Amino acid sequence: MPVIEVQHITKKFKDLVAVDDANLEIEEGECFGLLGPNGAGKTSLIRMIIAISPPSEGDIWVQGRDIKQYPRQVKAVLGVVPQMDNLDEDLTVLQNLTTFARYFAIPRDEAYRRSLELLKFFQLEGKHKSRIRELSGGMKRLLLLARGLINRPEIIILDEPTVGLDPQTKHMVWQKLGELKVQGTTQLLCTQNMEEAAILCDRVTVMHHGRILTQDTPRALLARYVGDEVLGIEMDSENKSRLVNDLIDGGFDFIDMGDIIQVFHVTRDELVGRIEHLPERLIERPATLEDVFFRLTGQTLDVGEV
Ligand SMILES: Nc1ncnc2c1ncn2[C@@H]1O[C@H](COP(=O)(O)OP(=O)(O)OP(=O)(O)O)[C@@H](O)[C@H]1O
Ligand SMILES: [Mg+2]
Repeated sequence: MPVIEVQHITKKFKDLVAVDDANLEIEEGECFGLLGPNGAGKTSLIRMIIAISPPSEGDIWVQGRDIKQYPRQVKAVLGVVPQMDNLDEDLTVLQNLTTFARYFAIPRDEAYRRSLELLKFFQLEGKHKSRIRELSGGMKRLLLLARGLINRPEIIILDEPTVGLDPQTKHMVWQKLGELKVQGTTQLLCTQNMEEAAILCDRVTVMHHGRILTQDTPRALLARYVGDEVLGIEMDSENKSRLVNDLIDGGFDFIDMGDIIQVFHVTRDELVGRIEHLPERLIERPATLEDVFFRLTGQTLDVGEV
């Protein structure tokens, strides 16, 4: 049985369809990545899963419980790291954690102990008496992460948790998420960072215009949508239109990104053998999830076909 099951979920804000008939199944113990451009509907979907925003249509089950019937029980097993900072500005760093612990009926002493432990882990122990306004942007993000773990959640829902963190701190967070996964925690990770998704996620999905396009392992998505290598070709505009025609005639899979044309599912030698007048600058590099992202959300692709 999936730990999180989203069935035909739609979210409408007046005329705007933010989430459009989304279906998802997240298995126990996996880290599931939710990718998609700005405004794709990721946060709207997450807010429905954590039972703070009612769906316009559809059903969501968490650990087999219908969240409409059991919102409190569902919230109790979830750890949530929201995209927007909603820390309590009137409280200190430590109080933000201990107060939050009360929602989960964690006894005072235990709440205090856990809070200090989390502050230590996220290297915020020196700030425990500080007010929220005295924290840097990255520190607030770390505090949101610490707060999301206060109830030792079985499922963690993270909405862009490492935005604004320096590279070292980001790696520290990735390590922590990796440890939690080893301990069996299920993770739903919304991110714009393709490296993060590639490192942490067992499976990922790409969301675009409120719709969930495809969900699979990063490796399978790479194989399906872009292949092992990507060829990048830079050209002036006159030669570019000829190249684009040649690529279309040759049935190549490519996207025109303006300054550069990216060609997928082909090796350098195959392209050189089949297309005349290729420029000197032809860059071959290993494909990444970023290419999958462009390929799936790029303007040249009819997403209805995916
Ligand atoms: N409370 C709201 N009222 C009206 N429209 C909303 C509301 N929340 C979100 N939207 C709209 O829903 C769409 C999806 O927004 P959402 O925040 O879910 O996107 P997202 O994928 O999380 O984007 P980002 O990567 O920028 O965080 C957007 O067009 C947004 O303007
Ligand atoms: Mg968002």
